Amino acid sequence: MSDESNNTPAIGGKNFTVVAINCAAKAGEWIKTKLGNHTSLSLKYSPTDLVTEVDKGSEMMIRNLVQTHFPHHSFLGEEGVEPGPEASAKALNNVRDAEYLWVVDPIDGTTNFVHGFPFFSVSIALAHKGEVIVGVVYDPMRDELFVAEKGKGAYVHGKPMQVGTESQLGESLLATGFPADQQYALPLNMKGLQALAPQVRNIRSGGSAALHMAYVACGRLSGFWEIGLNSWDLAAGSLLVSESGGQVTDMLGSPYELGVRNVVATNGAIHGQLVDELKKVEAAG
Ligand code: IPD
Ligand code: CA
Ligand code: CA
Repeated sequence: MSDESNNTPAIGGKNFTVVAINCAAKAGEWIKTKLGNHTSLSLKYSPTDLVTEVDKGSEMMIRNLVQTHFPHHSFLGEEGVEPGPEASAKALNNVRDAEYLWVVDPIDGTTNFVHGFPFFSVSIALAHKGEVIVGVVYDPMRDELFVAEKGKGAYVHGKPMQVGTESQLGESLLATGFPADQQYALPLNMKGLQALAPQVRNIRSGGSAALHMAYVACGRLSGFWEIGLNSWDLAAGSLLVSESGGQVTDMLGSPYELGVRNVVATNGAIHGQLVDELKKVEAAG
C-alpha cells in the first residue's frame, strides 16, 4: 500500500508497508542488542507501568524514519504521550481524524524486556482517516514479522495467516493481560479471568498485547481479551486478526475502532461466547 495507490502525491515514492516493516525490523534489532543492558528504569502511571531509555530510543528511531519518508503524516507513539488513560484518550482524539496517522508502540512488553523474559514486540500501524490500513508486529527474539494490509490479507514471514478453527470455549486457548491500571482495569480483568478459567482449555498471559493479537491471527491462540489497553497496543494487531479471518470488537461487541480500550479479539467462531461470558460476569467494563 502506498501514496500512489491513494492518488496522492508520492513522497519519495515509498510504499507504506515497506516503511512500516523497515521501522519495525530496525527498531526490533536494536532493542534485541539492548536486552539485559538497559541503563535507566522509571515508573509511569503505576508501580507496574515501566519505561526504559530503550522504549524512548526505539520510538525516536521509528518516528525519525517515518518522518523522513512521510513528513506530512501524523504520529502517535506511546512515549510521546503523558501516562494514564485520560491523557492517552486525549492524545488520540487530537490526531484521530488525520489523513494519515502512524500509531506506534515502540516496545510492547516492557516488563518482559526489563526482566529478560523473551516475549515483547514492536507494533506499528498506519491509519487512513481513522481506519487501520497497515499493521506490523515484530517479535525480535523469534525474528517473527507479522504483516497485514487492509483487504490484502495477513502474513507471517511471507506465509498467509489464518485464525484457528476452535468453535467452543471448552477447546479454546485464550490469553489476557494484567493491566498496569490497578484501580479500574486490573480488578475487572480478574473477574473475567476467574469466570473463564474453568470453562476453557487454558489461559496464557504472555505480557505483550500486540503479540497476543498476532498469535490470535496465526491460530496459536483462539482468543484474547483485556481491559484498559491503548490505541498503540491494538491498532496493528486488530488488522492482523481481521485480515486473518478473525473478529475484533470492544467488550460489548461493537466493531474495533482506534478508540477501543477494552478488547476482544478471536477466531470469530468463539467471539459471541466470549463476549457473552464477559458481559454475564460484569467484566466487560
Ligand atoms: C503492556 C502490555 C501488556 C498488557 C498491558 C500493556 P507496555 O504494554 O501490552 O501485555 O497487559 O496492559 O500496558 O506497557 O509493555 O507497552
Ligand atoms: Ca503496550
Ligand atoms: Ca510500550
